[in-house]
Amino acid sequence: MGMKIEGFSKWSKSEKINWLKSLVPFDIENSISEFEISNAQLQKIIDGFSENTIANYVIPYGIAPNFLIDGKVYTVPMVIEESSVVAAASSAAKYWSTRGGFKTEILGIEKTGHIHFKWCGKKEDLYTIYPNVERAMIQEAKHITSNMEQRGGGILKTELLDYSASIPDIYQIMVTFDTKDSMGANFINSVLESFASTLESFIIAHPSLPDEAKDMDIIMSILSNYTPQCLVKAEVSCPIEGLGTFTNGMMAETLAKKFKTAVDIAHIDVFRATTHNKGIFNGIDAVILATGNDFRAVEAGGHAYAAKDGSYRSLSYCTLEDNMFKFWLEIPLSIGTVGGLTSLHPLAKISLNILGNPSALELMRITAAVGLAQNFAAIRSLVTTGIQHGHMKMHLMNILNSLKANDAQINEAITHFKNTTVSYAAVRQFLQNHPQNT
Ligand code: MEV
Repeated sequence: MGMKIEGFSKWSKSEKINWLKSLVPFDIENSISEFEISNAQLQKIIDGFSENTIANYVIPYGIAPNFLIDGKVYTVPMVIEESSVVAAASSAAKYWSTRGGFKTEILGIEKTGHIHFKWCGKKEDLYTIYPNVERAMIQEAKHITSNMEQRGGGILKTELLDYSASIPDIYQIMVTFDTKDSMGANFINSVLESFASTLESFIIAHPSLPDEAKDMDIIMSILSNYTPQCLVKAEVSCPIEGLGTFTNGMMAETLAKKFKTAVDIAHIDVFRATTHNKGIFNGIDAVILATGNDFRAVEAGGHAYAAKDGSYRSLSYCTLEDNMFKFWLEIPLSIGTVGGLTSLHPLAKISLNILGNPSALELMRITAAVGLAQNFAAIRSLVTTGIQHGHMKMHLMNILNSLKANDAQINEAITHFKNTTVSYAAVRQFLQNHPQNT
Protein backbone atom coordinates (compact mmCIF):
# COMPACT_ATOMS: atom_id res chain seq x y z
CA MET A 1 0.00 0.00 0.00
CA GLY A 2 1.50 3.32 -1.02
CA MET A 3 1.24 6.45 1.10
CA LYS A 4 -1.27 9.07 0.11
CA ILE A 5 0.51 11.86 -1.75
CA GLU A 6 -0.47 15.43 -0.89
CA GLY A 7 -0.02 18.34 -3.28
CA PHE A 8 1.48 16.14 -5.99
CA SER A 9 0.34 18.42 -8.81
CA LYS A 10 2.32 21.31 -7.29
CA TRP A 11 5.60 19.39 -7.39
CA SER A 12 8.07 20.23 -10.12
CA LYS A 13 8.59 17.78 -12.97
CA SER A 14 11.92 16.60 -11.55
CA GLU A 15 10.39 16.15 -8.10
CA LYS A 16 7.73 13.93 -9.64
CA ILE A 17 10.33 11.89 -11.53
CA ASN A 18 12.46 11.55 -8.39
CA TRP A 19 9.47 10.31 -6.45
CA LEU A 20 8.67 7.77 -9.16
CA LYS A 21 12.32 6.66 -9.10
CA SER A 22 11.83 5.40 -5.58
CA LEU A 23 8.85 3.30 -6.67
CA VAL A 24 10.07 1.50 -9.78
CA PRO A 25 12.92 -1.01 -10.03
CA PHE A 26 14.68 0.68 -12.97
CA ASP A 27 16.22 4.01 -13.85
CA ILE A 28 13.06 5.80 -14.93
CA GLU A 29 14.84 9.13 -15.24
CA ASN A 30 17.29 7.83 -17.82
CA SER A 31 14.62 5.81 -19.63
CA ILE A 32 12.40 8.78 -20.28
CA SER A 33 15.04 11.47 -20.69
CA GLU A 34 15.72 10.52 -24.32
CA PHE A 35 12.19 11.55 -25.17
CA GLU A 36 12.67 15.05 -23.75
CA ILE A 37 12.78 17.78 -26.40
CA SER A 38 16.07 19.71 -26.29
CA ASN A 39 14.22 23.01 -26.84
CA ALA A 40 13.20 23.77 -23.24
CA GLN A 41 10.64 26.37 -24.26
CA LEU A 42 8.89 23.89 -26.54
CA GLN A 43 9.03 21.16 -23.90
CA LYS A 44 7.35 23.53 -21.46
CA ILE A 45 4.52 24.19 -23.91
CA ILE A 46 3.96 20.46 -24.42
CA ASP A 47 4.12 19.72 -20.69
CA GLY A 48 1.43 22.35 -20.22
CA PHE A 49 -1.13 20.50 -22.36
CA SER A 50 -1.78 18.02 -19.57
CA GLU A 51 -1.05 17.55 -15.89
CA ASN A 52 1.66 15.71 -13.93
CA THR A 53 3.62 15.32 -17.18
CA ILE A 54 6.96 13.54 -16.91
CA ALA A 55 7.72 12.52 -20.53
CA ASN A 56 6.61 12.69 -24.15
CA TYR A 57 4.98 9.62 -25.67
CA VAL A 58 6.14 9.47 -29.26
CA ILE A 59 3.85 8.39 -32.09
CA PRO A 60 4.99 8.41 -35.73
CA TYR A 61 4.02 11.38 -37.89
CA GLY A 62 3.63 10.35 -41.54
CA ILE A 63 2.36 11.92 -44.73
CA ALA A 64 0.05 10.47 -47.37
CA PRO A 65 0.53 12.12 -50.79
CA ASN A 66 -1.70 12.22 -53.90
CA PHE A 67 -5.02 13.00 -52.25
CA LEU A 68 -7.10 14.61 -55.02
CA ILE A 69 -10.05 16.14 -53.18
CA ASP A 70 -12.55 18.39 -54.95
CA GLY A 71 -9.99 19.05 -57.68
CA LYS A 72 -7.15 20.02 -55.31
CA VAL A 73 -4.17 17.82 -54.48
CA TYR A 74 -3.23 17.43 -50.82
CA THR A 75 -0.44 15.76 -48.93
CA VAL A 76 -2.10 14.68 -45.73
CA PRO A 77 -0.25 14.47 -42.40
CA MET A 78 -1.25 11.44 -40.31
CA VAL A 79 -0.29 10.59 -36.75
CA ILE A 80 -0.70 6.89 -36.06
CA GLU A 81 1.19 4.04 -34.43
CA GLU A 82 -0.32 1.21 -36.51
CA SER A 83 1.65 -0.07 -39.50
CA SER A 84 -0.06 -0.18 -42.91
CA VAL A 85 -2.49 2.68 -42.25
CA VAL A 86 -0.50 5.44 -43.96
CA ALA A 87 0.55 3.03 -46.73
CA ALA A 88 -3.10 2.05 -47.29
CA ALA A 89 -4.29 5.68 -47.33
CA SER A 90 -1.53 6.61 -49.78
CA SER A 91 -2.30 3.67 -52.01
CA ALA A 92 -6.05 4.43 -52.12
CA ALA A 93 -5.33 8.14 -52.69
CA LYS A 94 -3.09 7.34 -55.67
CA TYR A 95 -5.62 4.85 -57.03
CA TRP A 96 -8.49 7.37 -56.93
CA SER A 97 -6.34 10.26 -58.17
CA THR A 98 -6.52 8.72 -61.64
CA ARG A 99 -10.27 8.09 -61.35
CA GLY A 100 -11.55 11.59 -60.61
CA GLY A 101 -10.47 11.79 -56.99
CA PHE A 102 -12.65 12.36 -53.93
CA LYS A 103 -15.73 14.58 -54.14
CA THR A 104 -17.02 16.00 -50.88
CA GLU A 105 -20.02 17.90 -49.64
CA ILE A 106 -20.63 19.70 -46.35
CA LEU A 107 -24.10 18.62 -45.21
CA GLY A 108 -24.26 20.78 -42.10
CA ILE A 109 -22.18 22.94 -39.76
CA GLU A 110 -24.31 23.13 -36.63
CA LYS A 111 -23.22 22.03 -33.16
CA THR A 112 -25.38 21.83 -30.08
CA GLY A 113 -25.06 22.11 -26.33
CA HIS A 114 -27.59 21.54 -23.56
CA ILE A 115 -28.62 22.90 -20.21
CA HIS A 116 -30.35 20.13 -18.30
CA PHE A 117 -32.42 21.42 -15.41
CA LYS A 118 -35.08 20.54 -12.93
CA TRP A 119 -38.33 22.50 -12.92
CA CYS A 120 -41.01 21.55 -10.40
CA GLY A 121 -43.46 24.28 -11.39
CA LYS A 122 -46.18 24.07 -14.01
CA LYS A 123 -44.98 23.21 -17.48
CA GLU A 124 -47.14 25.97 -19.00
CA ASP A 125 -45.49 28.59 -16.76
CA LEU A 126 -42.07 27.51 -17.97
CA TYR A 127 -43.10 27.75 -21.61
CA THR A 128 -44.75 31.14 -20.95
CA ILE A 129 -41.65 32.74 -19.44
CA TYR A 130 -39.24 31.07 -21.91
CA PRO A 131 -39.20 33.81 -24.61
CA ASN A 132 -38.11 36.33 -21.95
CA VAL A 133 -35.60 33.87 -20.50
CA GLU A 134 -34.15 33.33 -23.96
CA ARG A 135 -33.79 37.08 -24.54
CA ALA A 136 -32.06 37.52 -21.17
CA MET A 137 -29.73 34.55 -21.71
CA ILE A 138 -28.61 35.84 -25.11
CA GLN A 139 -28.20 39.39 -23.80
CA GLU A 140 -26.14 38.37 -20.77
CA ALA A 141 -23.86 36.12 -22.83
CA LYS A 142 -22.98 38.94 -25.25
CA HIS A 143 -19.53 39.39 -23.72
CA ILE A 144 -18.78 35.78 -24.72
CA THR A 145 -20.52 35.69 -28.09
CA SER A 146 -19.60 39.07 -29.61
CA ASN A 147 -16.19 37.95 -30.93
CA MET A 148 -17.68 34.85 -32.51
CA GLU A 149 -20.48 36.97 -34.00
CA GLN A 150 -17.88 39.24 -35.58
CA ARG A 151 -16.45 36.13 -37.25
CA GLY A 152 -19.92 35.34 -38.60
CA GLY A 153 -20.79 32.64 -36.06
CA GLY A 154 -22.50 32.46 -32.70
CA ILE A 155 -25.83 31.22 -31.37
CA LEU A 156 -28.22 30.10 -34.11
CA LYS A 157 -31.22 29.18 -31.99
CA THR A 158 -32.39 27.87 -28.64
CA GLU A 159 -35.19 25.46 -27.89
CA LEU A 160 -36.93 24.41 -24.69
CA LEU A 161 -37.43 20.64 -24.54
CA ASP A 162 -39.55 18.64 -22.13
CA TYR A 163 -37.94 15.42 -20.83
CA SER A 164 -40.30 15.11 -17.87
CA ALA A 165 -42.10 12.10 -19.33
CA SER A 166 -38.82 10.12 -19.04
CA ILE A 167 -37.39 11.69 -15.87
CA PRO A 168 -39.82 13.62 -13.63
CA ASP A 169 -39.37 17.42 -13.72
CA ILE A 170 -36.45 17.33 -16.15
CA TYR A 171 -36.29 19.88 -18.99
CA GLN A 172 -33.58 20.93 -21.35
CA ILE A 173 -32.55 24.01 -23.24
CA MET A 174 -30.90 22.97 -26.47
CA VAL A 175 -28.68 25.65 -27.98
CA THR A 176 -27.47 25.45 -31.57
CA PHE A 177 -24.19 27.10 -32.58
CA ASP A 178 -22.05 27.94 -35.57
CA THR A 179 -18.47 28.11 -34.30
CA LYS A 180 -16.87 28.92 -37.67
CA ASP A 181 -13.26 27.69 -37.86
CA SER A 182 -12.99 26.64 -34.24
CA MET A 183 -14.15 23.33 -32.84
CA GLY A 184 -15.77 25.60 -30.27
CA ALA A 185 -15.92 23.40 -27.17
CA ASN A 186 -14.78 26.15 -24.79
CA PHE A 187 -16.97 28.73 -26.47
CA ILE A 188 -20.06 26.51 -26.34
CA ASN A 189 -19.50 25.48 -22.72
CA SER A 190 -18.91 29.08 -21.60
CA VAL A 191 -22.12 30.22 -23.31
CA LEU A 192 -24.08 27.33 -21.77
CA GLU A 193 -22.82 28.07 -18.26
CA SER A 194 -23.68 31.73 -18.69
CA PHE A 195 -27.16 30.76 -19.97
CA ALA A 196 -27.67 28.44 -17.00
CA SER A 197 -26.81 31.15 -14.52
CA THR A 198 -29.15 33.62 -16.28
CA LEU A 199 -31.93 31.02 -16.31
CA GLU A 200 -31.55 30.42 -12.60
CA SER A 201 -31.45 34.09 -11.58
CA PHE A 202 -34.33 34.94 -13.94
CA ILE A 203 -36.56 32.38 -12.26
CA ILE A 204 -35.51 33.24 -8.71
CA ALA A 205 -36.06 36.97 -9.32
CA HIS A 206 -39.37 36.46 -11.13
CA PRO A 207 -42.11 38.41 -9.29
CA SER A 208 -45.05 36.07 -9.91
CA LEU A 209 -43.76 32.49 -10.05
CA PRO A 210 -44.89 30.21 -7.19
CA ASP A 211 -42.41 28.84 -4.65
CA GLU A 212 -42.20 25.35 -6.16
CA ALA A 213 -41.10 26.93 -9.47
CA LYS A 214 -38.30 28.80 -7.69
CA ASP A 215 -37.07 25.49 -6.41
CA MET A 216 -35.52 24.84 -9.81
CA ASP A 217 -32.08 23.26 -10.12
CA ILE A 218 -29.48 23.33 -12.86
CA ILE A 219 -28.29 19.74 -13.33
CA MET A 220 -25.54 20.41 -15.87
CA SER A 221 -24.54 22.47 -18.89
CA ILE A 222 -22.37 20.89 -21.57
CA LEU A 223 -21.87 20.67 -25.31
CA SER A 224 -22.81 17.47 -27.08
CA ASN A 225 -20.20 15.45 -28.95
CA TYR A 226 -23.02 14.05 -31.04
CA THR A 227 -23.09 16.43 -33.98
CA PRO A 228 -25.39 14.93 -36.63
CA GLN A 229 -25.89 18.42 -38.08
CA CYS A 230 -22.14 19.01 -38.45
CA LEU A 231 -21.81 16.53 -41.22
CA VAL A 232 -19.67 15.84 -44.26
CA LYS A 233 -19.94 13.41 -47.15
CA ALA A 234 -16.99 12.11 -49.19
CA GLU A 235 -17.48 10.03 -52.31
CA VAL A 236 -15.53 8.22 -54.99
CA SER A 237 -17.07 6.80 -58.15
CA CYS A 238 -16.08 5.44 -61.54
CA PRO A 239 -17.42 3.10 -64.21
CA ILE A 240 -17.14 -0.46 -62.90
CA GLU A 241 -14.77 -1.51 -65.69
CA GLY A 242 -12.57 1.46 -64.79
CA LEU A 243 -11.75 -0.15 -61.46
CA GLY A 244 -9.05 -2.17 -63.25
CA THR A 245 -7.71 -5.55 -62.20
CA PHE A 246 -6.43 -6.41 -58.77
CA THR A 247 -3.35 -7.99 -57.19
CA ASN A 248 -4.58 -11.56 -57.36
CA GLY A 249 -5.91 -11.10 -60.89
CA MET A 250 -9.45 -10.36 -59.76
CA MET A 251 -11.44 -8.57 -62.45
CA ALA A 252 -13.25 -5.26 -61.93
CA GLU A 253 -16.77 -6.64 -61.91
CA THR A 254 -15.97 -9.41 -59.40
CA LEU A 255 -14.19 -6.90 -57.18
CA ALA A 256 -17.08 -4.46 -57.37
CA LYS A 257 -19.64 -7.11 -56.38
CA LYS A 258 -17.54 -8.51 -53.53
CA PHE A 259 -16.73 -4.99 -52.37
CA LYS A 260 -20.40 -3.97 -52.28
CA THR A 261 -21.33 -7.18 -50.45
CA ALA A 262 -18.63 -6.47 -47.86
CA VAL A 263 -20.07 -2.97 -47.29
CA ASP A 264 -23.62 -4.38 -47.14
CA ILE A 265 -22.53 -6.90 -44.50
CA ALA A 266 -21.30 -3.97 -42.39
CA HIS A 267 -24.85 -2.59 -42.55
CA ILE A 268 -26.48 -5.70 -41.12
CA ASP A 269 -23.92 -7.18 -38.74
CA VAL A 270 -22.73 -5.16 -35.76
CA PHE A 271 -19.56 -7.26 -35.37
CA ARG A 272 -18.45 -6.42 -38.88
CA ALA A 273 -19.79 -2.84 -38.69
CA THR A 274 -17.56 -2.11 -35.69
CA THR A 275 -14.39 -3.33 -37.42
CA HIS A 276 -15.40 -1.68 -40.68
CA ASN A 277 -15.88 1.68 -38.93
CA LYS A 278 -12.67 1.15 -36.95
CA GLY A 279 -10.89 1.04 -40.29
CA ILE A 280 -12.50 4.36 -41.24
CA PHE A 281 -11.34 5.87 -37.95
CA ASN A 282 -7.80 4.62 -38.58
CA GLY A 283 -7.63 7.36 -41.20
CA ILE A 284 -9.87 9.92 -39.52
CA ASP A 285 -8.16 9.77 -36.12
CA ALA A 286 -4.73 10.03 -37.71
CA VAL A 287 -5.65 13.34 -39.36
CA ILE A 288 -7.52 14.52 -36.28
CA LEU A 289 -4.42 13.89 -34.14
CA ALA A 290 -2.04 15.44 -36.67
CA THR A 291 -4.10 18.63 -36.74
CA GLY A 292 -4.48 18.94 -32.96
CA ASN A 293 -8.17 18.08 -32.90
CA ASP A 294 -10.02 15.96 -30.35
CA PHE A 295 -10.17 12.36 -31.57
CA ARG A 296 -12.27 11.16 -28.62
CA ALA A 297 -14.97 13.69 -29.51
CA VAL A 298 -14.88 12.70 -33.18
CA GLU A 299 -14.96 8.97 -32.35
CA ALA A 300 -17.86 9.35 -29.90
CA GLY A 301 -19.89 11.41 -32.38
CA GLY A 302 -19.08 9.11 -35.29
CA HIS A 303 -20.07 5.93 -33.48
CA ALA A 304 -23.29 7.53 -32.19
CA TYR A 305 -24.08 8.54 -35.78
CA ALA A 306 -23.42 4.98 -36.93
CA ALA A 307 -26.23 3.93 -34.58
CA LYS A 308 -28.62 6.75 -35.48
CA ASP A 309 -31.40 4.45 -36.69
CA GLY A 310 -31.22 2.23 -33.60
CA SER A 311 -28.72 -0.34 -34.93
CA TYR A 312 -25.00 0.21 -35.19
CA ARG A 313 -24.08 0.17 -38.90
CA SER A 314 -21.41 1.02 -41.44
CA LEU A 315 -20.69 4.72 -41.89
CA SER A 316 -19.99 4.08 -45.58
CA TYR A 317 -22.20 2.92 -48.44
CA CYS A 318 -21.65 1.30 -51.82
CA THR A 319 -23.90 1.05 -54.87
CA LEU A 320 -23.43 -0.57 -58.27
CA GLU A 321 -25.96 1.06 -60.55
CA ASP A 322 -25.87 1.94 -64.27
CA ASN A 323 -22.43 0.31 -64.47
CA MET A 324 -21.08 2.78 -61.95
CA PHE A 325 -19.20 1.91 -58.77
CA LYS A 326 -20.11 4.46 -56.10
CA PHE A 327 -18.65 4.42 -52.61
CA TRP A 328 -19.26 7.10 -50.03
CA LEU A 329 -18.96 8.00 -46.39
CA GLU A 330 -21.16 10.27 -44.32
CA ILE A 331 -19.69 11.29 -40.99
CA PRO A 332 -20.18 14.01 -38.38
CA LEU A 333 -16.91 15.88 -37.83
CA SER A 334 -16.86 18.68 -35.33
CA ILE A 335 -13.32 19.95 -35.80
CA GLY A 336 -11.43 23.21 -36.00
CA THR A 337 -8.43 24.89 -37.54
CA VAL A 338 -8.15 27.75 -35.05
CA GLY A 339 -8.07 27.76 -31.26
CA GLY A 340 -7.33 24.94 -28.85
CA LEU A 341 -4.42 22.64 -29.58
CA THR A 342 -4.58 23.47 -33.31
CA SER A 343 -2.87 26.76 -32.54
CA LEU A 344 -0.74 25.60 -29.61
CA HIS A 345 0.82 22.32 -30.69
CA PRO A 346 3.76 23.10 -32.98
CA LEU A 347 3.20 19.95 -35.05
CA ALA A 348 -0.50 20.69 -35.41
CA LYS A 349 0.45 24.06 -36.87
CA ILE A 350 2.88 22.35 -39.24
CA SER A 351 0.14 19.90 -40.30
CA LEU A 352 -2.23 22.75 -41.09
CA ASN A 353 0.56 24.45 -43.07
CA ILE A 354 1.17 21.25 -45.04
CA LEU A 355 -2.55 21.18 -45.84
CA GLY A 356 -2.40 24.82 -47.02
CA ASN A 357 -4.06 26.25 -43.87
CA PRO A 358 -7.56 24.98 -44.54
CA SER A 359 -10.75 26.33 -43.02
CA ALA A 360 -12.61 24.00 -40.65
CA LEU A 361 -14.95 23.04 -43.49
CA GLU A 362 -12.04 22.22 -45.79
CA LEU A 363 -10.47 20.13 -43.03
CA MET A 364 -13.79 18.27 -42.63
CA ARG A 365 -13.68 17.47 -46.36
CA ILE A 366 -10.05 16.30 -46.23
CA THR A 367 -10.60 14.18 -43.12
CA ALA A 368 -13.68 12.49 -44.54
CA ALA A 369 -11.80 11.72 -47.77
CA VAL A 370 -8.99 10.09 -45.78
CA GLY A 371 -11.54 8.02 -43.83
CA LEU A 372 -13.10 6.86 -47.08
CA ALA A 373 -9.69 6.10 -48.61
CA GLN A 374 -8.78 4.03 -45.57
CA ASN A 375 -12.06 2.14 -45.75
CA PHE A 376 -11.60 1.54 -49.49
CA ALA A 377 -8.08 0.19 -49.02
CA ALA A 378 -9.13 -2.12 -46.18
CA ILE A 379 -12.10 -3.61 -48.05
CA ARG A 380 -10.08 -3.94 -51.25
CA SER A 381 -7.50 -5.98 -49.33
CA LEU A 382 -10.10 -8.00 -47.47
CA VAL A 383 -11.91 -9.13 -50.62
CA THR A 384 -8.73 -9.80 -52.64
CA THR A 385 -5.52 -10.84 -50.91
CA GLY A 386 -6.72 -10.68 -47.30
CA ILE A 387 -5.53 -8.08 -44.84
CA GLN A 388 -2.55 -9.95 -43.38
CA HIS A 389 -0.68 -10.03 -46.67
CA GLY A 390 0.02 -6.30 -46.73
CA HIS A 391 -0.19 -5.79 -43.01
CA MET A 392 2.48 -8.31 -42.07
CA LYS A 393 4.77 -7.03 -44.81
CA MET A 394 4.57 -3.61 -43.15
CA HIS A 395 4.91 -5.19 -39.73
CA LEU A 396 8.05 -7.06 -40.85
CA MET A 397 10.20 -3.99 -40.12
CA ASN A 398 8.79 -3.73 -36.60
CA ILE A 399 9.60 -7.39 -35.94
CA LEU A 400 13.11 -7.06 -37.44
CA ASN A 401 13.81 -3.96 -35.37
CA SER A 402 12.50 -5.54 -32.19
CA LEU A 403 14.78 -8.57 -32.82
CA LYS A 404 17.69 -6.14 -33.37
CA ALA A 405 18.42 -7.24 -36.94
CA ASN A 406 21.28 -5.36 -38.64
CA ASP A 407 21.05 -3.73 -42.09
CA ALA A 408 22.32 -6.81 -43.94
CA GLN A 409 19.82 -9.07 -42.20
CA ILE A 410 16.99 -6.59 -42.86
CA ASN A 411 17.75 -6.53 -46.59
CA GLU A 412 17.95 -10.33 -46.77
CA ALA A 413 14.71 -10.65 -44.78
CA ILE A 414 12.84 -8.23 -47.02
CA THR A 415 13.84 -10.30 -50.08
CA HIS A 416 13.06 -13.59 -48.35
CA PHE A 417 9.62 -12.52 -47.07
CA LYS A 418 8.47 -11.16 -50.45
CA ASN A 419 7.00 -14.59 -51.13
CA THR A 420 6.82 -16.04 -47.63
CA THR A 421 4.27 -15.49 -44.88
CA VAL A 422 5.51 -13.11 -42.20
CA SER A 423 5.07 -14.05 -38.57
CA TYR A 424 7.10 -13.25 -35.47
CA ALA A 425 8.26 -16.89 -35.24
CA ALA A 426 9.16 -17.07 -38.94
CA VAL A 427 11.25 -13.89 -38.73
CA ARG A 428 13.03 -15.09 -35.58
CA GLN A 429 13.80 -18.39 -37.29
CA PHE A 430 15.06 -16.54 -40.35
CA LEU A 431 17.43 -14.45 -38.24
CA GLN A 432 18.71 -17.57 -36.46
CA ASN A 433 19.47 -19.08 -39.88
CA HIS A 434 21.13 -15.84 -41.02
CA PRO A 435 23.26 -14.69 -38.07
CA GLN A 436 24.72 -11.19 -38.02
CA ASN A 437 28.23 -12.12 -39.15
CA THR A 438 27.20 -13.94 -42.32
C1 MEV B 1 -7.30 -2.69 -38.95
O1 MEV B 1 -6.76 -1.68 -38.16
C2 MEV B 1 -8.52 -2.17 -39.68
C3 MEV B 1 -9.29 -3.21 -40.49
O2 MEV B 1 -9.65 -4.31 -39.65
C4 MEV B 1 -10.52 -2.54 -41.02
C5 MEV B 1 -11.50 -3.47 -41.69
O3 MEV B 1 -11.54 -4.66 -41.38
O4 MEV B 1 -12.27 -2.96 -42.55
C6 MEV B 1 -8.45 -3.76 -41.60
